[in-house]
Amino acid sequence: MGMYDSIVITGGRGMLAQAIVAALAARKLSAVAVDRAAVDVTREADVRKLFAVHQPTLLINCAAHTKVDLCEDETEKANAINGHAVGVVARSAREHGTFVVHYSTDFVFDGSGRSPYRPDHPVGPLSAYGHSKLLGERLLQEHAPPEWLIVRTAWLYGRGGPSFPRTIVERARKGGPLKVVNDQIGSPTYTPDLAQATLDLLDRRETGIWHLTNSGQTSWFDFARSALGYFKVNANISPVTTAEWFKMRPKQATRPSYSVLDVEPFTRAVGRPMRHWEEALRDFASNVGEGGFS
Ligand SMILES: NC(=O)c1ccc[n+]([C@@H]2O[C@H](COP(=O)([O-])OP(=O)(O)OC[C@H]3O[C@@H](n4cnc5c(N)ncnc54)[C@H](OP(=O)(O)O)[C@@H]3O)[C@@H](O)[C@H]2O)c1
Repeated sequence: MGMYDSIVITGGRGMLAQAIVAALAARKLSAVAVDRAAVDVTREADVRKLFAVHQPTLLINCAAHTKVDLCEDETEKANAINGHAVGVVARSAREHGTFVVHYSTDFVFDGSGRSPYRPDHPVGPLSAYGHSKLLGERLLQEHAPPEWLIVRTAWLYGRGGPSFPRTIVERARKGGPLKVVNDQIGSPTYTPDLAQATLDLLDRRETGIWHLTNSGQTSWFDFARSALGYFKVNANISPVTTAEWFKMRPKQATRPSYSVLDVEPFTRAVGRPMRHWEEALRDFASNVGEGGFS
């Protein structure tokens, strides 16, 4: 990391961006984190000015439209933020010789696989969000300097933003019954762990597409049950199938039924896997217990 003397993070108020700032600070490294009000990545002038002012040697793009269901109705906005803006960032990076780290998603896959998706597995997004994120991946590769890092992750949660465990815990505390899908399988990922793993890759000057999630796999239903357990909240929770969920909420994106990512390349490169998702979730619950969700 020492070779990066000017680190800039876009989407700086997002959940992951905050975790990256904290991980850098733990190493006594500082970064300029710019939020949407300061730099809207869909405005080329904002992006150009950002590069001109800070001359970043490392740009970490955490700006994204992450509301998966809303993206179905806002495809243009999703493509602008998750797709075309990444191309603009990449072109500026090429002009300034900046190394770019960009985040993508398990939702670029169609979910028909039944073994962990390798980074080179054929993509096939099912949702507008997945399509827009894939567009971003492609534009980055097309326009950035020859070396770049794309990190695909999944089921992200942490402090400083809305997330699935938070929604479940808050709804349970209000006392209502919970119905959670039990036939979509993936790997929850805790933002501080992802931030740390990203820095591990940067330390090793790795490039290309990497898959980073916490270890293990689960369903949304079991993820919810574990969260309720670690947060010590009683709830009336029952499993539903995706088909039943669609009947209750017809206006939603189609998600892959299986989107476990193969994290073996990371484990091999770094010499250890990211910790198991249950261990990370337990840690999240104890951190929230001390400081609250935000
Ligand atoms: N969350 C997940 O489950 C998940 C799963 C897989 C991959 N990922 C990827 O991981 C990355 C980080 O996700 P996250 O969960 O940290 O997202 P997040 O908390 O939603 O943060 C995204 C940030 O981007 C900002 N933003 C939106 N439009 C922008 C624009 N035009 N210009 C500048 N900033 C803009 C948002 O600001 P406002 O709030 O002001 O709009 C928000 O602060 C994203 O690339 C996401 O696609 C996330």
